[in-house]
Amino acid sequence: MQDTVMDVINLIGNEDHKMLEILMEIQDRSEYNYLTPEDIKDVSVALDISETKVFGLANFYAMLSTKKRGRHVIEVCNSTPCYILNSDSIVEILEGILGVKVGEVTEDQLFSLEYTSCLGACDASPAIKIDHKTYGHLDRGKIFNLLASIRREENI
Ligand code: FES
Repeated sequence: MQDTVMDVINLIGNEDHKMLEILMEIQDRSEYNYLTPEDIKDVSVALDISETKVFGLANFYAMLSTKKRGRHVIEVCNSTPCYILNSDSIVEILEGILGVKVGEVTEDQLFSLEYTSCLGACDASPAIKIDHKTYGHLDRGKIFNLLASIRREENI
């Protein structure tokens, strides 16, 4: 079993009902924000649940991914309040800056761009989430600065 999975199981426990929490924690610790086939297999063994069931759960929840993503995941809210306040223009700006479409990963693997439902920041619509932090009242300048600051932190 991989060390990361072992650490997470030691931290959270191996009861069936903790599977979602376990998968989220493993994904959070993954450099590219996704669950590998090895992760699925290890969780299956640790919880004594079939790989099919673990894989099924990993694919059911939108916040989990079994596909490699970027080191930073950008999620654009496309629920109605944000949509009305022009979340489409935020998507256009992000696609322009990043050079990818929603659902894709940048060539340098630094960012993936995705849609999400309400982030609970409707009063600051249009809103996005980058990794675990939500940002609102966005415009081109604010988005540009956010991405530039992440690139600086990554020394890119
Ligand atoms: S609808 Fe976008 S944050 Fe609530």
